[in-house]
Amino acid sequence: MILKNKRILLIIAGGIAAYKSLDLIRRFREQGADVRPLMTAGAQQFVTPLAVGALSASHVYTDLFSREDEQDVGHIRLARDCDLIVVAPATADLMAKMAHGLADDLASTVLLATDKPVLVAPAMNPKMWSTKATQRNVATLKADGIHFIGPERGEMAESGEAGLGRMSEPMQIVETATLLLDGHAKPLLGRKAIVTSGPTHEPIDPVRYIANRSSGKQGHAIAAALAALGADVTLVSGPVTIPDPLGVRTIHVERAEEMRDAVLAALPADIAVMVAAVADWRVEAQAGEKIKKQAGEPPAPLHLIENPDILKTVGHHAMRPKLVCGFAAETQSVIENARKKLDTKGADMIVANDVSAETGIMGGERNSVRVITRDGVDVWPDMPKGEVAEKLAEKIASYFATS
Ligand code: C5P
Repeated sequence: MILKNKRILLIIAGGIAAYKSLDLIRRFREQGADVRPLMTAGAQQFVTPLAVGALSASHVYTDLFSREDEQDVGHIRLARDCDLIVVAPATADLMAKMAHGLADDLASTVLLATDKPVLVAPAMNPKMWSTKATQRNVATLKADGIHFIGPERGEMAESGEAGLGRMSEPMQIVETATLLLDGHAKPLLGRKAIVTSGPTHEPIDPVRYIANRSSGKQGHAIAAALAALGADVTLVSGPVTIPDPLGVRTIHVERAEEMRDAVLAALPADIAVMVAAVADWRVEAQAGEKIKKQAGEPPAPLHLIENPDILKTVGHHAMRPKLVCGFAAETQSVIENARKKLDTKGADMIVANDVSAETGIMGGERNSVRVITRDGVDVWPDMPKGEVAEKLAEKIASYFATS
């Protein structure tokens, strides 16, 4: 499984060779890759999203203006939440759009927005391939760092014409993709990481619970970023509405005690990043039935008791991971409190952020953090949560490189 944990965004454009993309999906998955398919309108004339979805076991992305897809993943994340983009088949039209920076549908928008390597497997009529316009576009794309495989010489499926224009065979595309992915550094290959993310829900009775505003965005992004650097990641997530990151083992829990149990079950590990906003307290005795409101009576008192501190438990555990990183969501004395946490929690690194309501960090898209270690404080500028995650994963990787 040479592509285990690799996340491939497969863009299928409209050409008869799209039928080969079905086989390509199978070949990628046989090698352990996660395939997220994206189809252009043209592609859907040749193969159905149903077949593509079934073979990839993934949602099929088709529409730039789909409200559901935008809420779920969004085109920018679609462009970045992968290790490699493969365009197969790539039509002359899609390559022309790429070469000119057009973005009038989901495929071209994602290709314009990505910061990941792109491998293009063209397929078209030999005349369309050899024509000056297409060759100009290919030259531009190569100069832009886009990788190509094919086209091959052979008979065209639809016209019987022979010449250069056939899409490369799926196995050749898989091999080239593997070479490209290997060329990208995986400094955390062979390291195991546990990440917690999201809030916890602490039940009061069967219908009510105590919760907080954590969305899980930052924790999930960190899990994905560690996986992108090669780590074998277990994500223990509280209740969130965002999708599981690709290439990560996600365990879903509700309560703090369940989260602790799942984290401890995932030990031993090299890295623990505890991002979850674990509820500090839970109701001591959860009511078995819905607590009834009694007219004129005061509400039933809730007796709260402390939840286990998962970070502290891991930080002082006999199987303590080599690197333990916690988060500190504070509204005041951010650095001072984070420093204290290094010791009390047994952590090596605390990522501190100011979650005062006016910062909009809790549940928002951006984060502004300071990273506190025993060596000092790094102040990072305000940036999207995905970038905070990538920078943190790189910092963690450099910790292993130097120690
Ligand atoms: O003590 P405080 O909640 O501010 O600490 C925050 C850090 O501790 C975060 O990394 C959070 O994930 C972790 N934590 C935990 N279990 C708790 C409370 C906090 O793992 N019960």
